[in-house]
Amino acid sequence: MSEHSATSDLMEAVKCGLTRARKALPPFLFYDERGSALFERITTLPEYYLTRTEHGILERDAARIAKTVLASLQGPVAVLELGAGTATKTELLLRAFVKERADLTYFPADVSPTPLTQARARLATNLPRLAVSPIVGTHAEALDKISRWEGSVVVLFLGSSIGNYEDAEAAALLSEVRGALGQRGVLLLGVDRKKAKEVLVPAYDDSAGVTAEFNRNLLLRLNRELGADFDPAAFRHVALWNEDAGAMEMHLESTEPQSVHVAALALTVSFERGERIHTESSHKYDQARVSRLLAMSGLCDVAAFSDERRWFSLHVAAPLDA
Ligand code: AVI
Repeated sequence: MSEHSATSDLMEAVKCGLTRARKALPPFLFYDERGSALFERITTLPEYYLTRTEHGILERDAARIAKTVLASLQGPVAVLELGAGTATKTELLLRAFVKERADLTYFPADVSPTPLTQARARLATNLPRLAVSPIVGTHAEALDKISRWEGSVVVLFLGSSIGNYEDAEAAALLSEVRGALGQRGVLLLGVDRKKAKEVLVPAYDDSAGVTAEFNRNLLLRLNRELGADFDPAAFRHVALWNEDAGAMEMHLESTEPQSVHVAALALTVSFERGERIHTESSHKYDQARVSRLLAMSGLCDVAAFSDERRWFSLHVAAPLDA
């Protein structure tokens, strides 16, 4: 048995990413325990408008969204939330859903069991009439489980998490969602909209340095789980707007020429001064991009809800051939 705790997925991702000409690491690596806690802090930062704005839309429009989502659904309804975490903002929506329908079961899904346990305990107190059945697993595992539900299905994918996928990967994931919806299901998709880079860049490079810590934490994770010897202080957090990709990007930039050894992979990686590791893209959308993505996935836009500034939107989507 290896002395390091890494899974083969993590080892494969890191080996591929650090041996490419343009070094990159996948964003799922951010979310170890400390990374998840740092992300929770990010959602409360003044510059990170996404969570607050989506929450505001839910506060104002939850009842209308619930009516739109549930209008055409027959039989008992399964509400699956991908990447639910503690489901804090989802509670606003679930409250409105419960007012519309009694025959609902909420399936919060996440790879980490701890936030799901918290969500279940809180919902048992706050919404005792709602049946809650957590799923610990990947998006694919959760979708597979829900596709066997005999009734209607609602899939929630909030927080603009879709933005962390390249368009082709996003379409592949949403195609799986479409498969799980059957003939009558509905997707509620949260997306962050394109806006001035003067707003976007600080959201990913906050003045308190929390996002920089979140980014560098990935290196600490590789040190712990793969026996790497990264010095996080020798990497600068870079957040930039990539106009061509329509995405905010985060990178870790080497501040000096250096070599890093990754023991579990028997790999030594050299960095030039200024060389970057691309750690995340966070794609931003306009209506055309959302419609294109949905169409590529066999879905179409039924309705959209946005805030007054039109910074964030929630899209109700249904199967194209329903
Ligand atoms: C989880 N995801 C939608 C966040 C985002 O905005 O792309 C992750 C994040 N990265 C930096 N700050 C927050």
